[in-house]
Amino acid sequence: MAVSATLAVNEAVERARRAGRAVLPLGFGEAGLPVHAALRERLAGAAGANSYGPVAGLPELRAAAAGYWQRRSLPTSAEQVVAGPGSKPLLYGLLAALEGDVALPRPSWVSYAAQATMLHHQARFVDTTPGQGGVPDPFALAALADQARAAGRPLRSVVLTLPDNPTGTLAGRDRVAGVCAVAREHDLVIISDEIYRDLVHDPATPYVSPAELAPERTVITTGLSKNLALGGWRLGVTRLPDSELGEQLGQHLLDIASEIWSSPPHPVQSVAAWAFTEPEVLRDHLAASRQLHGTVARAVAEVFAGVGAEVAAPAGGFYLYPDLEAHRERLARRWGITDGAGLARVLLEELDVATLPGSAFGDHAGALRLRVATSLLYGPDDLRRQTALMDDDPLGLPWVRDGLGQLRGALERLLD
Ligand SMILES: Cc1ncc(COP(=O)(O)O)c(C=O)c1O
Repeated sequence: MAVSATLAVNEAVERARRAGRAVLPLGFGEAGLPVHAALRERLAGAAGANSYGPVAGLPELRAAAAGYWQRRSLPTSAEQVVAGPGSKPLLYGLLAALEGDVALPRPSWVSYAAQATMLHHQARFVDTTPGQGGVPDPFALAALADQARAAGRPLRSVVLTLPDNPTGTLAGRDRVAGVCAVAREHDLVIISDEIYRDLVHDPATPYVSPAELAPERTVITTGLSKNLALGGWRLGVTRLPDSELGEQLGQHLLDIASEIWSSPPHPVQSVAAWAFTEPEVLRDHLAASRQLHGTVARAVAEVFAGVGAEVAAPAGGFYLYPDLEAHRERLARRWGITDGAGLARVLLEELDVATLPGSAFGDHAGALRLRVATSLLYGPDDLRRQTALMDDDPLGLPWVRDGLGQLRGALERLLD
């Protein structure tokens, strides 16, 4: 196992910075916003809570998370909720409990395939289409499921990401419904990673969770790392289906959790129990965050489109997935670039822009696609990030403008 590509790029940026280079950090997918003051205060108040507590999480947290889903038209009881130290270990526990090969969208978040491999399950990639990231093409998924069954190694699950990292897009109802139908036909468990759900930029965008369409077989994961920028606090939750499958899976997940993390951090759980009730102060904070993420992601998309890259309009989160295929010949001639890794390397080493190649997300190695995280453009410290969050015109702030200018200049030199 190698260190996760997203964390590795962060370290590469740090090294370049120590060498005195001003690298534009578009590689690491962190929300890039400060912790809301009300959350800080509550965490300080909860610091004395030092008992482990129940493996599944505090009852008040499980009840609050159930309420969160109920407000999203998903009837949920507290018993269906398991909390963990981030959604990443919960995903690992679920994949472990499911014991079988897993279908993944191509491209998809780095850790799904890595976790499957660690568990000796095969990760089987299925193509997505531009603008519908995070959800495999249902026809291709059905073909793979048939083929896997015929080969005596049937698929057990499929992971969806709504909205998606790395593409920043949100698949629509037809796509989700298509996958639900295939999952029913082939008895696949759907793991729906909805960690960016609250960061759909336009709240009027219709959102369809597979848990609405295939409730008996859909497990949802989410957390506070992205919507409230609390990645380092490590708190995630999963919603198990209200079915026999859900009960079995829940028991197996708790067995695994009890032997690995015992319980999520107690003080963080206390704060999360409050956060999942979605008090007004946090709703306002989230609305501002959503708006900033959308504004900056669209501005970066325009910079890429301006140099002739294909890039789907961002719909949620803080990512873009530009494709420089149109410049293949020029990139090969000028820089010797023939694949995504080469493209990301030249951008970092020659042009001081850190991104990740699509191949880190399971994409075809030869594709000239990049995952671009836009959130570290808000600034290098809490003061500037908070200013960007509060400002009506974040694109006019000098450091945001400079970052966009640095990117434009680097891309122009790349395509000189
Ligand atoms: C799609 C996706 N799922 C899950 C996670 C991990 O979240 P957590 O901090 O809850 O472990 C990330 C973080 O980068 C992500 O992008």
